[in-house]
Amino acid sequence: MKDHPHIIIGGGIIGLSIGWQLLRAGRPVEIYEESAIPRSGAGWNAAGMLAPHAEAGYEEEALYNLCLQGLSAYPEFLSELREDVRENEVPALDRCGSMIVAVTADDSVILQRQFEFRKKLGQDGMELIRGAEAREREPLLSPKVKQALYLANDGQINNRKLISALHEAFLNRGGIIHEHQQVDRVVVRKGKAEGVEVSGVSRNASSITVAPGALAGKIKGIDPIGIRPVKGQVVTLKSEPSAELHHLIRSPRIYLAAKDDGRLLVGASAEEKGLDRRITAGPIMELLHYAWEVLPAVYELEITELQSGMRPASRDNCPIIGQADEEGLYYATGHYRNGILLAPLTAYALRDEILLGTKRADLQVFSPSRFSQEAHIIEEVV
Ligand code: GLY
Repeated sequence: MKDHPHIIIGGGIIGLSIGWQLLRAGRPVEIYEESAIPRSGAGWNAAGMLAPHAEAGYEEEALYNLCLQGLSAYPEFLSELREDVRENEVPALDRCGSMIVAVTADDSVILQRQFEFRKKLGQDGMELIRGAEAREREPLLSPKVKQALYLANDGQINNRKLISALHEAFLNRGGIIHEHQQVDRVVVRKGKAEGVEVSGVSRNASSITVAPGALAGKIKGIDPIGIRPVKGQVVTLKSEPSAELHHLIRSPRIYLAAKDDGRLLVGASAEEKGLDRRITAGPIMELLHYAWEVLPAVYELEITELQSGMRPASRDNCPIIGQADEEGLYYATGHYRNGILLAPLTAYALRDEILLGTKRADLQVFSPSRFSQEAHIIEEVV
């Protein structure tokens, strides 16, 4: 098996990152991608927020801690990327901070609760500030903004530039990409994943990593692990000096992320609609309305793109990272709202698990076996 390639199913940001790290460790890697890289995965339509402080959700402490580690992994990841592609192809890590703003009295109550919760989490760099102070730091915010929760340690990255750089780095390191090719089945014999079947042809593999985002359930021969797509529609506006932002801005309803290439992203809906990728009027109307509520200058901006992406979500909305029950089979999916943020950490973790058999302690709770154990318990109860 040693000379067979490491096969990765899925060429989104997660698959590319893992593949590139395996290549850097001197192993042959092949990616199978159903459509065309770099636009194929959910990451292309993401906002590129690296915002574990703002995204921290109630009852999700382990995920929050993982996301903090995810952000810490970025500087090394980007510096390695600079070794493999031209310097100007690597996006900058923008440590801009987040501001969650309150426009209504209800929003202020939500903000106060979020502040208390984040204090319990021990978040650094956090301030609850009045509307006037929020406008001093972010002058174009609406006069309706009453209060803001400022989170200094969040950042962002140009997600499209990052995915393009990873694609380039993967190819520069000798990786092979099979585009428009769907892996139909993972071949498992006696508890060991031996290869894949693509259009009736079998390929042997040293290891197989399942990273096709929201499409994980389509692959035969393995546990579908309950991944579902959560649709996110995003509006891209053309940024103008009249709408210039210095931070990631959020309200309880939307976020605004100004990218260094002139895109101002307004996101995002979260819709349980299966694999429906249509752009629909309701969510787009709401995104624009709630963006205008926070940043009135949005009214005059040109719409340059309407996007929809499929966030891959697991049953507990947490990522699934690590070896499956089958030898040689690994999952890297379910990243849901944190695919860009967790790509470097996922890549380092899987590289080490595949090549050295080591597993990070903070990933134990995110292992695929949590679902197979759940299935065994259900079977016993039945
Ligand atoms: N992380 C932002 C989103 O999923 O919309």
